[in-house]
Amino acid sequence: MAQSRPYYADQSLSAAHYDLITAADGRLAGDVEIYAGLIPPDGAVLELGAGTGRVTAALAERGFKVLGVDIAPAMLRQAETRRAGLAPDVAARTAFQRGDMTALDLKRSFDAVICPYFTLAHVPAGTAWRNTFATAARHLTPGGLAVFHLPLAEIMRAPGPARPDLPVMDQPLADGGRLQLHVRRRTFNDKVGRMDQVIEYVERDPKGAVRRVSPERQTYYVADPVPAAAQAGLTLDRPPIPHGGVGEFWVFTRV
Ligand SMILES: C[S@@+](CC[C@H](N)C(=O)[O-])C[C@H]1O[C@@H](n2cnc3c(N)ncnc32)[C@H](O)[C@@H]1O
Repeated sequence: MAQSRPYYADQSLSAAHYDLITAADGRLAGDVEIYAGLIPPDGAVLELGAGTGRVTAALAERGFKVLGVDIAPAMLRQAETRRAGLAPDVAARTAFQRGDMTALDLKRSFDAVICPYFTLAHVPAGTAWRNTFATAARHLTPGGLAVFHLPLAEIMRAPGPARPDLPVMDQPLADGGRLQLHVRRRTFNDKVGRMDQVIEYVERDPKGAVRRVSPERQTYYVADPVPAAAQAGLTLDRPPIPHGGVGEFWVFTRV
């Protein structure tokens, strides 16, 4: 197998095809409505791990003002392209900037801080989680909500597919080719609550010939977020909201 890249790295196919993959993943459907239902109307939102701006733009279209922060230039470039295509009033409510959610201080506050689609699980549970919750608390107005979408531990612990020869996703590309995703390796370390997998992205041309192959490393950490949030002065606002059979929305409030 070719040498693997980290997820969302420059030249990675996980970044290049992020929008195609998330649009095809039914388990994400309805996440934007959950945020929209929790944030006060017209509120200002800080999104940690904004990626290509999928959630950012959808919330701005609903009237919220959203600043999306992300660490990956390959994702932020797509976010800026998306922003350029928005209606002027929606684009005016949308902004992106590069930053690390574990060490961010924008010196301003927001009505809500959101951390969508398992983004917190990308950084190690422990100091990085405590620092990310501190970032959320630092940027929240008193009474504001911090919403973290986290994967279910049992989904992360599940073994890889029974038929590794079959793609876990197979999607048409705009040029008539196909994008296929294979799980090549998957392990779960119970001691540290860490899932590691290599997903091989395969791009095929319209005739079925392989055009590009890119094995990419993905890691997720699972843990109870409540103690790390509490250390940052955030308390659980309600029981976690189950979503899509694979994750939960954890809603915290600043004390
Ligand atoms: C699964 S994507 C979520 C993107 C978008 N919020 C969505 O829901 O479609 C996770 C994003 O988190 C970003 N990310 C990972 N670690 C980060 C960190 N320490 N600080 C900021 N962004 C980070 C990745 O670059 C990636 O774009």
